[in-house]
Amino acid sequence: MKKKLLAFSLTLAFSSAPAILHAAANISAGKEKAAQCVSCHGENGNSMVSNFPKLAQQHSSYLVKQLQSFKDGTRKNPIMSAIAQGLTIEDMVDIAAYYAEQKISPNELPILDDEDEDEKSPGKSDGAAKVQAMIAQGSDLYRNGDLTREVSACIACHGPFGDGNKPAAFPLLKSQHADYLIKALTDFKSGARSNNPDNMMHMIARKMTDEEIKAVAYRISMMK
Ligand code: HEC
Ligand code: HEC
Repeated sequence: MKKKLLAFSLTLAFSSAPAILHAAANISAGKEKAAQCVSCHGENGNSMVSNFPKLAQQHSSYLVKQLQSFKDGTRKNPIMSAIAQGLTIEDMVDIAAYYAEQKISPNELPILDDEDEDEKSPGKSDGAAKVQAMIAQGSDLYRNGDLTREVSACIACHGPFGDGNKPAAFPLLKSQHADYLIKALTDFKSGARSNNPDNMMHMIARKMTDEEIKAVAYRISMMK
């Protein structure tokens, strides 16, 4: 089963890799051009705001693809579309090469704000046990998927440590903000984000419950 998925993802790797990275990237120019991104995506692409994705260490192939999608409207976000309008393909390639060279920062263990009404007693609280249980659920889903409901295992494409796959432009996920991951998966699920090749993330996310999305997002956010 795992072999099959791997073969599937490798086939995709060769059929859907974007053929746009031929221009030579200039990392130091990329750093300068990325100055306009710091206010939201943070110093070195490690954003401090959980709704703004970290870009550090992300594969350049994936970053360029997303910037092009924002520019041509196939990925919709009012802020990013406006910003991408001002970038040439050369800017995108340079900026992406710069972020790909940065190191992504780890996250703190989450504190669940919706269900921990009880007194704070770190380590012993109900909330801490709930976080652990949720992360264990997310870990199982990440590695094994859910065969009964045909949710593919994330590991097949995003790798055992969440590193993704550069040639295939499968994004690195590890240490990304959980809030952003939840938004991304929810957007795939609803179809609001629809630039994914062969709709593969939509096919997966639409079978996931909101609870599973949250669990796997927190699990991924803790991967280092
Ligand atoms: C005003 C805030 C803001 C600024 C400035 C900004 N971004 Fe973004 N960016 C966002 C938000 C919000 C998202 C998430 C969009 C979504 O939810 O789909 C995003 C998403 C992205 C993504 C997609 C990441 C992923 O994992 O799919 C890339 C790539 C990106 N931005 C690059 C840039 C670059 C390059 C610049 C500078 C030229 C920049 N952004 C400036 C707010 C900003
Ligand atoms: C068959 C391969 C495949 C499998 C299996 C897969 N993904 Fe993906 N995933 C992708 C691709 C390709 C993209 C990039 C889509 C695009 O280009 O917009 C992606 C994008 C994502 C993103 C958006 C990242 C960002 O920075 O915006 C998240 C989150 C994600 N996947 C989570 C998951 C989870 C969770 C699972 C398991 C339940 C999973 N994926 C299974 C191929 C896969």
